[in-house]
Amino acid sequence: MRPTTAGHEFGEVIGALGEQPGGGELLRMGRAREDLALVGGAVRDLLLGRTPRELDVVVAADAAGFARELAADLAPGAAQAPSATLHERFGTAVVEWETGRVDIAERRAETYSAPGALPQVRPGTTEEDLRRRDFTVNAIAVPLGGPLLGEIISAEHALEDLRAGRLRVIHAHSFTDDPTRLLRLARYRARLGFECEELTAELARAALVSGALDTVSRARIGAEVRLALGETEAIAALSAIGELGVLRALEPRLRLREPLARRALALLPADGRPEELLMASLLLELSQSSVGDPDAAMFEFLDGLEFTAAERERITRSALAAPSLTREMELAERPSELHETLCAQTLEAIALAAAMDRGGPAGRASEAAREWFERLRHVRLQITGEDLLAAGIEPGPQLGRLLALTLARRLDGELPDGRRAELDAALQARV
Ligand code: CTP
Repeated sequence: MRPTTAGHEFGEVIGALGEQPGGGELLRMGRAREDLALVGGAVRDLLLGRTPRELDVVVAADAAGFARELAADLAPGAAQAPSATLHERFGTAVVEWETGRVDIAERRAETYSAPGALPQVRPGTTEEDLRRRDFTVNAIAVPLGGPLLGEIISAEHALEDLRAGRLRVIHAHSFTDDPTRLLRLARYRARLGFECEELTAELARAALVSGALDTVSRARIGAEVRLALGETEAIAALSAIGELGVLRALEPRLRLREPLARRALALLPADGRPEELLMASLLLELSQSSVGDPDAAMFEFLDGLEFTAAERERITRSALAAPSLTREMELAERPSELHETLCAQTLEAIALAAAMDRGGPAGRASEAAREWFERLRHVRLQITGEDLLAAGIEPGPQLGRLLALTLARRLDGELPDGRRAELDAALQARV
């Protein structure tokens, strides 16, 4: 989607801001000070007629003090007291409440001592604060107070790029200074539907070829990957990251099979984990690799990106299981067999396996997955081990076996409803 005049006219940012959660409070606070300005993604989105995810503002100094003041100002209208998180070392703060979020930063200039290093910062002017940013469309500020209230202050090309739907870095070192911007570029392309300006595309390619991604920690890359996974159009974001060559640079055996990922996401039930499904789909090829130890390679990759131990376990398990699960799902003839095949599998592995069904969306494995997700996995016996003990069955492994046999009959429709029928069936199954 390209920006059109359907977005807010330039100069109308103040009006649009007033309609955002926290916007009225910011405008009121701006009246009492000259340094407060709206910047970054918030200005970009308001100019495009989009709803910003949060409001980004800058102040000349004391972001923490401003955050406390804002939180106090918001408190009377909020159901729960707004929280102010302060990062005094970085000169940033976040104020968050049920319906909104404001990111506050002190205006600054940044220098990078080495490619990929965290920047050294010092207080800066509004212009310097814009020049430190990633893309021109993010380098627009609108003062919320003082003589320039409501004016647009922007980096060179920013407004024309916003109108044209173009992503352009502010200077030639942008990607080498901060290679996580390669992933941000892809994310914005997918979310905003913007094109990449030619020189910017060349700079991105050159940074990748020169190994820029190796100069930043995998943890910082992981944070960007998670942001991509959290995008509304996450597959488009991953696809843009892949097109740029970032996936290959991170791990040569990562593959995004877009139609497969889309089919799997469409099948995944609401209590599934779409982010984990997408990571597992990226790892499918690696999981089946006959070179080295795929298990260890997947673990190392996910660990580097700082996925938690539980996430790593589920993602690798899904990637390893899905390919062989398709056939097993096709072969299961009775609901009880499907239960046996699927009861220990993740929802993500099952959705992926169904999406790999060569028979297509109406194929057998997809049908089996739907039946499992919608009905079979929710079937529970009304009796428990306690009931069997009360009926005189000896404690021991036999209890579990009898319950499993009864559940199988229940799933296969062989038992009428009710506890009595289940108990009778369990007792009959005794040897
Ligand atoms: N920024 C940057 N380089 C980065 C991260 C952030 O230059 N590696 C700058 C950008 O100017 C960005 C601003 O910091 O606009 C705020 O960052 P963030 O909140 O991550 O981005 P938004 O532009 O607000 O985008 P989103 O809509 O995704 O929140």
